[in-house]
Formats: sequence, structure tokens, C-alpha cells
Amino acid sequence: MKLILRNAAAIATCSASGKRCKRGDEMNDVGVINDADLLIEDGVIKSIGKAGDASGAETIDVSGKTIVPGFVDAHTHAIFAGTREREFAMRARGVSYSEIAAKGGGILSTVSKTRELSKGALRSQAAKRIDKMLEHGTTTLEIKSGYGLDFKNEIKLLETANELREESLSGIVVTLLGAHAIPPEFINDRDGYLELLIRELIPYVGRKKLAKFCDVFCDEGFFTPGETRRILMAARESGMLPKMHADELSASGGVELAIELGAVSVDHLEHIGPDEIRRLAGSDTIGVILPAVAAYLRGTPAPAREMIDGGCPLALATDLNPGTSMVDNMQTAMFFAISLNRLTVEEALNAATINAAAALGISDSLGSIEIGKQADLLIVDGDYSIMPYHFTENKILNVVKNGTLLEFPG
Ligand code: NIG
Ligand code: FE
Repeated sequence: MKLILRNAAAIATCSASGKRCKRGDEMNDVGVINDADLLIEDGVIKSIGKAGDASGAETIDVSGKTIVPGFVDAHTHAIFAGTREREFAMRARGVSYSEIAAKGGGILSTVSKTRELSKGALRSQAAKRIDKMLEHGTTTLEIKSGYGLDFKNEIKLLETANELREESLSGIVVTLLGAHAIPPEFINDRDGYLELLIRELIPYVGRKKLAKFCDVFCDEGFFTPGETRRILMAARESGMLPKMHADELSASGGVELAIELGAVSVDHLEHIGPDEIRRLAGSDTIGVILPAVAAYLRGTPAPAREMIDGGCPLALATDLNPGTSMVDNMQTAMFFAISLNRLTVEEALNAATINAAAALGISDSLGSIEIGKQADLLIVDGDYSIMPYHFTENKILNVVKNGTLLEFPG
């Protein structure tokens, strides 16, 4: 099957020239090729430039439009039940996220609602979210568990994520986040919960191959660096790759640990300091910023400007979850990254594509427009900067997933 996108005003390739990701000044360049065609064959990008006369190919005229790689949302909690607008209202009156969590709200309130729902109900709710994300340009996303927090319910969430991966058009990468919070049953027995994670849940998830990554919420009031190390070492032994939530609520020591463990990514980083920035820049661990969280928590944005200038590879994600980011749209995440974290538009686009793919370990086949890569592409209504500039509207005219032009109802 052949598809030609003809006469694009520009193709922003986001190519890292064969490297896994971009850092420093490279992030300011989205590799624009003007006035070009794109030839796709059997889901793979075959040529960029003039496609000539390819008979039998479906041809779409994209004059005046820009083609960019499909967004990769490298950090989401997309399977959850219920919403938490009352907590948002409480924070607007000055109550902090940590205070709400300490009183049994926060993550634990979503856990109790999520435990009540069947796999089928969770799956159909999440499928709607994922379809909407696809229509807004997210062709691949990560999904974490973490609202089950017992053996049965964590498995329920991971199985749901894997079923969605089979069924949905979007690419899905699954992460175990059993260490999202201490569940109510173990509030006076932290070690008991750690034992459950390390001796039962992690080995089972590894054996059944239910998750590629294992993540831990390493932060004040959640898991300490010592606990995080134990959990992630066990996960590595069971064949999962480490990821971490770190420095969201306070400087947690998590970045150093993430580097030491060879984590694929360390995410949040609102409280990262200059020393850690230097260390992260010297490592292969990718920093993932989640700019909507600072807006939802009225918190400090991650010092992304300093991180990029210091040479860290940086990716961008929504962190879609009912507590700290009801944002499912990467165009919106780009806007927040530009306005709150002081990224340039080009840095935000690279962070949302090639570097985000690297944060999921899939940038060898996704995240940029290069010959031989999978054809996950977006046709943008104008220049690529229209997406964050006018983020309240969907500026993606068409989505091509794996070489197929998608149609959306309505
Ligand atoms: O990434 N930090 C931990 N997890 C989420 C919040 C989850 C919640 O509040 O439900 C986050 O911000
Ligand atoms: Fe998160």
C-alpha cells in the first residue's frame, strides 16, 4: 500500500541524525525541509523530497500544510475512574496537594473509585480518552498502572492497558506503577507493602510480560530513595526497565538514583537543582517535564531552560491524571512548556516527538520523519507553531498512523 502526501509547505522531520535523542542546541532545530512530498509504503517512510509519479498510490494534496511526526506522550495515567475537581477547588483556596493526600484524598481517592470499576468499564472509558488523544495528534502513549495498589487491581489495570494496546489504533507502552502510594490497608505497614511489590507483584508482572517499564513515585510523603532502589532493582531482575517520578513535590534525591540505576527517564523535576542538572546532562537518562502539573498545583515549573542549556536531553508529556493534570492534549502541553518552562517552539516540538520516543525506548522506529521509520505523521493546518499558539483548537487536520490515513467521526 502506497500513500503520497504531496506539496507540503514544510516537513519538520525532528530527525536526530541517527542518534537516539537530541540535546542542547540540537533541540532548537526541527529539521525543516520545504516544498516536499512524502512517500509511504506499507507503513514505512520511503522517500522525502519529490515523489515523482508513483502509480497506484493514494495521493493527498497538502499544499500550505506542515507535516510533523506523530506526538509521543511519554507519561500518562490514562486509566482511572472519576474526577477530582473538589480537590482542585480546595487547592484554589490554599490547601496543598500534600495536605489533601495526607487526609486520604489525592491518589487514594482515585484508587478507591478505580477498584470499584470492572475491567470492561475502565477499558471503555480509557479507549474514549485515547481516541480523542489520537485525533489531537498523540499516535503513541505510555500508560501507567498505579490506581489499583493491590495485587488484583494492579493486574486489572495492566491487563486493561495491554488489551487497549491490542485493540486501539494508537501505539501503547505499558508501565507498572505499583509504587504510586502506600495503599490504605498498609498505612501502618510500609514494609508489608514493599514485600508485596517485590515478592509478588513485580515477579508476576515480569513473568507475564505485562509491562515494559516499572516506575516509582519517589518523593516526600510517598517512597524514599532507599525504597525506590529496592523496588527498581527487583523490577530489573524481573525484566522491566526503570523509570521514576522525582522532585515533583520537593528535592528528593531521586535524580541521582535514577542515573545510578540507569533509568530510561526521570520525570517531573520541578525541584531539580544545579548539581543534579549537571549529572543528568552527563548521563543517558532523559528528563521528562510535565508542565501542566505546575499549573494545576500552582507550583514551580521545572527549570527546563537551565536543563536544556546545560545539555540534558529533555522530553515533554501530559501526565494525564485526575489529580494534577486533566490535560490529554500534547498541543496544550507544548503551550505550557513554552509559557511556563520557557522552551522555544522548536524545543517543545522535539521534546514531544523524537525525545519523547527516546524516553520510551522506541526512537529507533518512531518520533521523527526519516526514511525507514514508521509512518506516524500529523498534517498541521499551517506552520507548526500554530499548534501551541492556538492550543484551544485542534490544529491537526489529519493523522497518519502506521501509513494509514485515519478518519474520525464527526
Ligand atoms: O504524576 N506524582 C504522582 N502521580 C501523579 C499524580 C497522581 C494523582 O494525583 O492522582 C503525577 O502528578
Ligand atoms: Fe505522573
